[in-house]
Amino acid sequence: MSQFQAPPLDVSSVLHGGIHHPTLRKWQANGRNLTKSMLIYPIFISDDPDAEQEIATLPGQKRWGINKLEGFLGPLIAKGLKSVILFGVPMQMEKDDRGSAADDPKTPVIQALHLLAKLFPQLMLCVDVCLCEYTSHGHCGILSSLPNPGHSNQPTIEMETSAQRIAEVAIAYAKAGAHCVAPSDMMDGRIRAIKLGLMHAGLANRCALMSYSAKFASGLYGPFRDAAGSAPSFGNRKCYQLPPNARSIARRAIQRDAAEGADILMVKPALPYLDIISDAAQYAPDHPTACYQVSGEYAMVYAGAEKGIYDLKEMAFETTESMVRAGASIILTYFTPQFLDWLDE
Ligand code: PBG
Ligand code: ZN
Repeated sequence: MSQFQAPPLDVSSVLHGGIHHPTLRKWQANGRNLTKSMLIYPIFISDDPDAEQEIATLPGQKRWGINKLEGFLGPLIAKGLKSVILFGVPMQMEKDDRGSAADDPKTPVIQALHLLAKLFPQLMLCVDVCLCEYTSHGHCGILSSLPNPGHSNQPTIEMETSAQRIAEVAIAYAKAGAHCVAPSDMMDGRIRAIKLGLMHAGLANRCALMSYSAKFASGLYGPFRDAAGSAPSFGNRKCYQLPPNARSIARRAIQRDAAEGADILMVKPALPYLDIISDAAQYAPDHPTACYQVSGEYAMVYAGAEKGIYDLKEMAFETTESMVRAGASIILTYFTPQFLDWLDE
């Protein structure tokens, strides 16, 4: 046997001293720890006022009627819930090619905004702005009627009309009391159109604009489309959502939306796009960076835990803390109710 004796470790090689206690481990986060006020809880509002309907592919989440909101949200607010984002689910309303139901005074999100502002004046109310839940074709914008022989079975977007229509809807939500409108449609020019619309309506100083800036055409939206009934009736969303392999155009989208007047920039989905979150924080350092742990990410974490692959709570923390590490200071997540408990432990 050789008598080789390694020289003593250099002082800079010893790392364990800094990580052996839970509080020490928190201190290693560069001050970037997950907190309750970073969380936005996405909730689905049905046009059936008494609905409390499970969603098969989104375990633990429901479609809520406005009569159920007080009982549902009251206890969460008591535990420290600061913000929600509302998604309308028109089960009975008529759908048409311009998504007229999106800003109908009777549409579920407008009703919910009025009610929540009264019930919970401290709760920060965000609302998703899109047409896909309300259009007969299920696409996020207004479609051109021009023939499109080069792209059979794919929609062509009417750019200007779509941005104007999205702005109209956003302004209706701001008037109904939204503190923050969040367009997820990915139409070119909609951030500028919304910001100008808010300014003309005298609402720009009391309604924030959170852009889904870098939103990728992802396979992870399936459960959401189930929940909201917003799957496209033909083609897909690849002519307006970003290709998953693309880093540069995501950077351009982020910088464009910052320049067009967004107050907050979002990356979506989150876990497969941590590099984009980091780019957003770096290339738009003066805007808060948000990310959306989307329905399929949530369902994936959940399914793995149910299979016994890992512990649910541990993986919920590991995934969201990686987003914070990448640069996010706002996280939209369906795990919000659990985090309100877990972050107290
Ligand atoms: C609709 C919209 C989608 C999501 C938020 N707004 C789905 C889509 O673009 O098809 C996804 C959210 C989730 O999956 O949790 N514009
Ligand atoms: Zn949409």
